[in-house]
Amino acid sequence: MPAVVIIGAQWGDEGKGKATDLLGSRIDYVVKFNGGNNAGHTVVIGDQKYALHLLPSGILSPGVTPIIGNGVVVDIEVLFDELDALIARGVDVSRLKVSANAHVITHYHRTLDKVTERFLGKRQIGTTGRGIGPTYADKINRVGIRVQDIFDEGILRQKVEAALDQKNHLLVKIYNRRAIEADEIVESLLSYAPRLKPMVADTALEIHQALEADKTVLFEAGQATMLDVDHGTYPFVTSSSATAGGASTGSGIGPGRIERVIGIVKAYTTRVGAGPFPTELFDASGEFLRANGFEFGTTTGRPRRCGWYDAPIARYSARINGVTDFVLTKLDVLTGLETIPVCVAYDVDGVRHDEVPVSQSDFHHAVPIYEEFPGWSDDITGAREFSDLPQAAQDYVLAVEAMSGARISAIGVGPGRDAIVTRHDLLG
Ligand code: GDP
Ligand code: IMO
Ligand code: MG
Repeated sequence: MPAVVIIGAQWGDEGKGKATDLLGSRIDYVVKFNGGNNAGHTVVIGDQKYALHLLPSGILSPGVTPIIGNGVVVDIEVLFDELDALIARGVDVSRLKVSANAHVITHYHRTLDKVTERFLGKRQIGTTGRGIGPTYADKINRVGIRVQDIFDEGILRQKVEAALDQKNHLLVKIYNRRAIEADEIVESLLSYAPRLKPMVADTALEIHQALEADKTVLFEAGQATMLDVDHGTYPFVTSSSATAGGASTGSGIGPGRIERVIGIVKAYTTRVGAGPFPTELFDASGEFLRANGFEFGTTTGRPRRCGWYDAPIARYSARINGVTDFVLTKLDVLTGLETIPVCVAYDVDGVRHDEVPVSQSDFHHAVPIYEEFPGWSDDITGAREFSDLPQAAQDYVLAVEAMSGARISAIGVGPGRDAIVTRHDLLG
C-alpha cells in the first residue's frame, strides 16, 4: 500500500496530526503537500504535547523521512524555529527534505496578508496572518520566490526587486505603509542559505524512488476540503489545494499512485475564521462542544466556531477526495449529551437539498434539517474495540457512517496516541 493520503473532511482541525502520528510507526515517508504555517496540529504522546505548524506531523515518528513538498509555502524562519524546538525536545529531524520548488513566504507577504485583511473590514476572511494568500498569489502570478532561488544571489535579487516594484506601489499608495527595501529581503533570505542548503532536494524524485522501492509514503494535507481554494466555501478558504488531488500536484507524483485516501472527520463540526457554516451553534450546546473539545486554534489561539455533524459535508468530501476510509475523531467529546442532532440535508428557501448546494448564495441560506440520535453518559475514553462503546455511541457511529459516503475505519476517543478504536486497518 505505498501511497496514502490523509485529508481533512470539514473546515480543518479534525485531528489530522493525531491520525498521521498514529500511522507513524508503519510509514517510511511523510509528505506535506499544501499550505504552510497556517496549519496547527496538536499531537499528544504520553504526557508530552507537540504543536506542529509547518512540519508534517509524521516527523515525530522515529525512522520516518519527512518531506516538505513543492506545493507548500515555506516561512524559513518559522521552519528553523520549529526544528530547533523539536531538537531541544530530543526529536531527530535530520532526515527532513525541502523541495527546491516550494515557494518562500517573505516579510512582504506577511505584511500584505495583514493589511489586505484590515482593508476588507467586515468582509475579511479571518486569515491566520501568516502570509499564505499573498505567497500563493505571487506563485500563480509568476512573481514568487522559490527555495532554489536563495542559492543564486543574482537571480534572487532580480526576483525580489521585480516583486517589490509592484508591491511597494500597493503598500505605499493604497495601504499607506512604508516601502520595503529589496536589500532587506535579499539579506535575510541569503542568511538562511547555509543551514537550508543540506535540506533542499528534488523531492519529487525522492518520493518517486521511495514508491518504486515499495516504501509507504503518507501525504498529509494541511487545512481541509471546505477550505480548499477550488472546492471549499470560496472566498472563505485558504489559497491552496487541500484536497486529495493536491497530493499529486503538490508533491510531483502521478495521481494513479494513490491507493488510499483517509478522510479525517470530527464527530461534530468546527470552523476558524469567517464564512458559511450551516450547523453552527450560538447557544449552550456550542459552548459545550468548545469547552469539552478544547476548541481553540493551535495557530492563532482563536476560539473555534462549533456546530453539529453535517452529513452532506462529509458526503461531499468523500466524493471530492475519493475517500476510502474515514477516521471519526473526538467521539468522546459528545459524551454527556442527552440527544445528538446530525444534519442530514438543508432547507434552502423552502427547497430541500440533500447535497451541498453548488451556489454559494444558497449555501449561505442553508438551514440544517436535523435527525436526532440518543446520547450516552458512560466515559468512552478507554474503549479500544467497537464493542467497548455504549450501544448509543455504536448506533451514532453506524448512523453517521451510513450517511457519509465511506466506511468509518477508526474512531478517536481521546487526544492520546492510543485513544482509538480500530474497525478496519487503515493501511491494510
Ligand atoms: P489538525 O489540524 O487536523 O491536525 O487538528 P488539531 O491538532 O488542530 O486539532 C485537533 C485537536 O483534537 C488536537 O488538540 C488533538 O489533540 C485533539 N484530538 C484528536 N483526536 C481526538 C479525539 O479523538 N478525542 C479528543 N478528545 N481529542 C482529540
Ligand atoms: P489545520 O491544518 C482551521 C482558515 C483561517 C481562515 C482561512 C484562510 O490546522 O486544519 P489563511 O491564513 O490560510 O489564508 O486563512 O483558512 N485556516 C484554518 N482553519 N485549521 C487550519 O489548518 C487552517 N488554516 C487556515 O482561519 O479562515
Ligand atoms: Mg489544526
